[in-house]
Amino acid sequence: MKSIISFQDVTKRFGALTVLDHFNFDVSPGEKVTLIGPSGSGKSTVLRILMTLEPFQEGVLELAGISYHQPHGHGPFRANERHLHKIRSNVGMVFQSFNLFPHMTVLRNIIEAPIAVLKMKREEAESRAVELLGMVGLLDKKDHYPSQLSGGQQQRVAIARALAMRPRVLLFDEPTSALDPQLVGEVLGVIRDLAHEHDLTMLLVTHEMRFAREVSDRVCFFDKGRIVEQGEPERFFSAPEQPRTREFLGSILNA
Ligand SMILES: Nc1ncnc2c1ncn2[C@@H]1O[C@H](COP(=O)(O)OP(=O)(O)OP(=O)(O)O)[C@@H](O)[C@H]1O
Ligand SMILES: [Mg+2]
Repeated sequence: MKSIISFQDVTKRFGALTVLDHFNFDVSPGEKVTLIGPSGSGKSTVLRILMTLEPFQEGVLELAGISYHQPHGHGPFRANERHLHKIRSNVGMVFQSFNLFPHMTVLRNIIEAPIAVLKMKREEAESRAVELLGMVGLLDKKDHYPSQLSGGQQQRVAIARALAMRPRVLLFDEPTSALDPQLVGEVLGVIRDLAHEHDLTMLLVTHEMRFAREVSDRVCFFDKGRIVEQGEPERFFSAPEQPRTREFLGSILNA
């Protein structure tokens, strides 16, 4: 099947630091992929490039059939705003810090972008928001402000807000690592439910190995801007092949 995400020889630098060096990575429509790996290996950078938050220097990125590239190999490439907008319209992202608008109620947080960006009618945006809040179990909080919610509840709102834009690809960057341990489960539960949506492509960065094992079709171990090893979770966790993967999994499990 044709990939929905395709990095083709993508090179990304921050000044003298090369974070992705001819990076190749493909994800099929509906696939749930987790990225694991040490700090600084470039996991967030991969997601941020997909979200068009970071330009890259070389190679081609294809997202939902739209490709964009840096044809001459020097200088940060900026596709024009319309082009980026079209690419971005296929992607949603949930960050480690929930990034809700503090001065807006939960409901407003969710309907704002569909109205402003998708030009959705207010009633339609609201009824969709209510549906999504039901799904994340927070309908009773719709008129609250983010500061009145727990971290786990804020993160569930952030997930509903991302879904309100009807993305085909949903990116999660360590969605539970800013949460108190007792709040992690409720957020993982929502993401686990989402993973059963066959149409939604999900790319997750997480340190929750048990969760990665449960939800993903494929786990990729990422180190120094490269995928060192990848595979179906059962095999990946029970019989990692690369020494570097074994070392990393060992360090996580002992932590
Ligand atoms: N805006 C930036 N300017 C300069 N360097 C950056 C910038 N963003 C990231 N980097 C560097 O790029 C490398 C990859 O960072 P990235 O955030 O993608 O790592 P990560 O795998 O997500 O790490 P972590 O697990 O700690 O979140 C790091 O060395 C980081 O310091
Ligand atoms: Mg990161």
